[in-house]
Amino acid sequence: MTINVRARNIRKVYGEGDVAYHALRGVDLDVAAGEFMMLAGPSGSGKTTLLSILGCVLSATSGSLELFGEDISKLPARKLPQIRLSRIGFIFQGHNLIASLPARDNVALVMRLQGASSSVALKRADAMLERVGLGDKRHSSPNQLSGGQRQRVAIARALAASPPLILADEPTAALDAQSGLLVTELLKDLSRESGHTVVVVTHDSRIFHLADRMVHIEDGQIQRSGVEAA
Ligand SMILES: Nc1ncnc2c1ncn2[C@@H]1O[C@H](COP(=O)(O)OP(=O)(O)O)[C@@H](O)[C@H]1O
Ligand SMILES: [Mg+2]
Repeated sequence: MTINVRARNIRKVYGEGDVAYHALRGVDLDVAAGEFMMLAGPSGSGKTTLLSILGCVLSATSGSLELFGEDISKLPARKLPQIRLSRIGFIFQGHNLIASLPARDNVALVMRLQGASSSVALKRADAMLERVGLGDKRHSSPNQLSGGQRQRVAIARALAASPPLILADEPTAALDAQSGLLVTELLKDLSRESGHTVVVVTHDSRIFHLADRMVHIEDGQIQRSGVEAA
């Protein structure tokens, strides 16, 4: 089995001295290619910190991280943005669409940053919006969309450039139960079709049953099943 994410003994300390806070206390985690994994735990347990480290947005205080067989912890910081852009799609709680841009331009943005021409990016954006059921909303701005529709746009944006790894931080937090479930099912179906590896951080127990594997974190430590996928 191919392992896309291999984290070993990851520690993260915020601050130093008297105010040092150990947010991650030696995390080991493997995520297999194509896996739809959920990382659950109470508020403050370190979920966002861990996801940010896996997404190369934040560096660990110590420990090692391999993404797609490449040792990220040894790369210079200036290489990380390129890895994020080419390999990782992010989905957040919901307030991260650009308010002044219509849905299709929000979705096209990552592809534009990667160097795609405007016409290619918009064509792909329209196709992705179609796939998330929002073909008729492509000219709508985020404030004209419901919370569930905004998360569909966020999914379309994260998947549009086909990054192998998708990271979602509490994607259903702002949604009612029904839309939360629909959005997560959509993310799972599309990821399956295209073979994305997905890590969803959540404490929404209503969506746990959709996970291929649940990993629990508490007080900065994985509670069970961190590396068993290997
Ligand atoms: N930038 C920061 N500076 C100091 N402490 C932080 C920072 N970010 C998070 N923390 C602390 O680290 C712990 C884990 O935070 P976080 O990873 O956001 O948890 P979760 O996403 O599970 O709610 C929390 O106690 C939080 O207050
Ligand atoms: Mg969080």
